Amino acid sequence: MNDNPLIIALDVDTIEEARRLVGAIGDGANFYKVGMELYAVAGMAFVQELLGRGRRVFLDLKLYDISETVKRATRQIARCGVTFLTVHGSKAVMRAAVEGRGDSATRLLAVTVLTSFDQDDLADLGFSTPVSDLVALRVRNAVASGIDGIVCSALEVAKVREIGGPGLKLVTPGVRSAGAATGDQKRVATPAEAIEAGADYLVIGRQVTRAADPQAACEKILSEIGRASHREKIPQTESTKEA
Ligand code: C5P
Repeated sequence: MNDNPLIIALDVDTIEEARRLVGAIGDGANFYKVGMELYAVAGMAFVQELLGRGRRVFLDLKLYDISETVKRATRQIARCGVTFLTVHGSKAVMRAAVEGRGDSATRLLAVTVLTSFDQDDLADLGFSTPVSDLVALRVRNAVASGIDGIVCSALEVAKVREIGGPGLKLVTPGVRSAGAATGDQKRVATPAEAIEAGADYLVIGRQVTRAADPQAACEKILSEIGRASHREKIPQTESTKEA
């Protein structure tokens, strides 16, 4: 179990705003998700900046391409020392990513079926499989391919855990404390419910990034899940002090 299971989604469109948030969060979290929006403006240079400041990075690029490209891109990303990288949950993509990751410390997370997809979207791809069956199939394939974890909603966690077993890392977005604004998230669970269902990490965006005091917002979530006094201390280097 992690001392601090929070991964804060840096869904912002400038490096300056991302730096400001990381500074404002301080010791409240040390794990950050960089998704396509920030990556498009900040790239690997910013990822390396975060790593250099003692933070862990979840690079959410959801790779999906021919095997050779996925393998080579994964190899490059793994060399930089990110902790988590996402790939789509099709067998060829997952196997290529596992090959590219090699013996590096980067852990690969599979996206089974995008949660924005419904049965019509699957029909558009030519699939008649029910969404939940496809999720289950892809979890099994992920485990067989050597994938380390799955990104799944709090509502799927228990089932994914049952299929994937105790060793799989389950990373759960769409989490909100009771009473917090839900924004565009339709199916949310509280942090405690997600952890109770078996999540290892919680991806939290706006509840923290739009809070007046982002560090206090992290502390609130940590106390809800009983981890406040156990949280990791970020090593203080010259650069973290400036952040
Ligand atoms: O602001 P909020 O907490 O809703 O942000 C959640 C983060 O998790 C965003 O980066 C979003 O893209 C991501 N995510 C999600 N639901 C999924 C998969 C990813 O909210 N099913």
